[in-house]
Amino acid sequence: MILVTGGAGYIGSHAVLSLLKDNYEILIFDNLERGHIETVETLQKLGKVTFFKGDLRKADDLERVFKQYNIESVLHFAAFALVEESVKEPFKYYKNNVLGSVNLINIMLKNNVKNIVFSSSCATYGEPKYFPIDEKHPQKPINPYGEAKLEVEKILLEYDKLYGLKSVILRYFNVAGCDEYCRIGEWHEPETHLIPNILKCATNKEKIFKIYGDDYNTPDGTCIRDYVNVEDLADAHKLALEYLKKENKSDIFNLGTEKGNSVKEIFDICEKTVNSKVNREITHRRAGDPAILYADSAKAKKILGWKPNRTLEESIQRAFEWEKKMQTGNYIS
Ligand code: UFG
Repeated sequence: MILVTGGAGYIGSHAVLSLLKDNYEILIFDNLERGHIETVETLQKLGKVTFFKGDLRKADDLERVFKQYNIESVLHFAAFALVEESVKEPFKYYKNNVLGSVNLINIMLKNNVKNIVFSSSCATYGEPKYFPIDEKHPQKPINPYGEAKLEVEKILLEYDKLYGLKSVILRYFNVAGCDEYCRIGEWHEPETHLIPNILKCATNKEKIFKIYGDDYNTPDGTCIRDYVNVEDLADAHKLALEYLKKENKSDIFNLGTEKGNSVKEIFDICEKTVNSKVNREITHRRAGDPAILYADSAKAKKILGWKPNRTLEESIQRAFEWEKKMQTGNYIS
């Protein structure tokens, strides 16, 4: 069985879906603080998925889950993942994201489970020194979210040296889109991410879309990010699990499309997708946002055999379909 922490969340649930296509048996561990039971129920209709409501901060929950089930490897998604919130409430991020991860890997070792795929982030790089960003780029996070992810990376590598724990660290860039049949999708409350926020305005769920700053040192003044499709990203986790089994060694990979788009460019693609004008205004910068982030993913291509297959336009089209579905209030497929 593959233990998926945070499997009720956005990226975790898409990774579960990807694994189900290859008949993996999945155990989702999630406290449902940010994830959704409806997502789990949808996944349970599609394959062998067991759900355990538990919290990484409670060692007891982890003890019980490892005692009760035969866990072979772990995909570790569970984390708070909002940059701005992490600036305002850093301790929350260190406690949940760092201590929670330490609890998890300690219990893994106690139970002789030695393979883990960890969701890390381009936020560990901070303000880039060069582009595109490869895995060797210095890591100097500029927000507690990135700091906490980096701390877990270091702990994982330390645990390999000390105890032989093997980890694949995946550093995601920005993520977009949803399952091709819109059975699951991006569902955050509150929503803070760019594409869903534009689409909420396009569908009149919100009144006006706010661009956080147009005075960055970029061609149009707005921040540049690398938006990778969530299904493409999910597939990388399957490859990472296979890599751990075959190679039995730890490694780190960036996952992005290697192309950056500005906030204004994304806005334009969204307007084209929805085929109408969306209200927008320029407001102040958001704390913790670096100006430009885009990936060099050559290593993941070469070693994992991964490549992003879906376009940004496809991701936005899917996100639009999902947004419309969300607004009907019918989340279960
Ligand atoms: N943005 C707006 N208006 C909005 C929302 C976002 O202008 O309403 C801008 C942001 O300022 C940023 C860009 O759009 O410049 C993208 O913002 P997102 O919130 O969609 O995503 P982030 O760039 O903050 O993503 C970061 C890291 C990821 C990490 C994620 C966690 O790049 O690695 O935070 O939420 F996983």
